[in-house]
Amino acid sequence: MSSVAIVGAGPGLGAAVARRFGREGFRVGLVARDRERLDALAGALVAEGITAGGCAADVRRPEELAAALGELAEALGTIEVLQYSPVPHRDFMRPVLDTGHRDLVGPIEFSVYGPVAAVQRVLPGMRRLGRGTILFVNGGTAAVPHPERAGTSVAFAAESAYGHLLHERLAAEGIHVAQLVIPGAITPGHARKDPDALAETLWSLHRDRHGFRHYADDLDS
Ligand SMILES: NC(=O)c1ccc[n+]([C@@H]2O[C@H](COP(=O)([O-])OP(=O)(O)OC[C@H]3O[C@@H](n4cnc5c(N)ncnc54)[C@H](OP(=O)(O)O)[C@@H]3O)[C@@H](O)[C@H]2O)c1
Repeated sequence: MSSVAIVGAGPGLGAAVARRFGREGFRVGLVARDRERLDALAGALVAEGITAGGCAADVRRPEELAAALGELAEALGTIEVLQYSPVPHRDFMRPVLDTGHRDLVGPIEFSVYGPVAAVQRVLPGMRRLGRGTILFVNGGTAAVPHPERAGTSVAFAAESAYGHLLHERLAAEGIHVAQLVIPGAITPGHARKDPDALAETLWSLHRDRHGFRHYADDLDS
């Protein structure tokens, strides 16, 4: 049985992706910091017939994140799909001239060290399986830097470069790496940016397996 790990699993996109992959028979592993909220989400999924479990970790602590993914793999089986989509902290989004080098520590830990730690932890299992999917989810500043959101702009650019390198390097091994850029806000009821619509898009990225960067909506929306 295959499992999907959702790093940054909350009530919005994380829950929708859990349900979408769960519907396809995936076991679902959830990672976020708040254990009670994780347990509540896992419990709701289990009540719907999805095999699910949560493990608390802060993505800014790479060892903690890697250990959580190890625990989930132990409990749910080898992680075939990794989605990295924690919601960035508000204080990462400062104007560029108010951003000093220390202000970039958090964004870089969050968007570079976290993804690298997660990928390194799950990759050996994907290689053993001979297949896998790694999905990065980012806001629009990954594609167009925003002067009022310097931290995410800089760190998402680095995360995008890392993902692109992985995409090129791992395609021949049957491991597909893709990025979904969501311009503007996730919006319930929106045709393309409702959490369920985005989960459908992420499912299709996993299923169709072509190209690295994909946009959930027009960039100027
Ligand atoms: N929301 C938007 O409008 C929007 C717009 C564009 C792009 N996106 C992208 O969509 C994804 C998020 O979707 P969503 O907003 O619907 O969120 P969500 O899936 O409802 O929740 C994301 C979860 O990330 C967890 N998280 C935050 N910081 C973390 C950390 N340091 N370590 C571990 N987990 C952490 C939070 O849980 P804890 O507090 O328990 O850790 C939160 O519940 C992200 O990739 C984001 O870049 C969102």
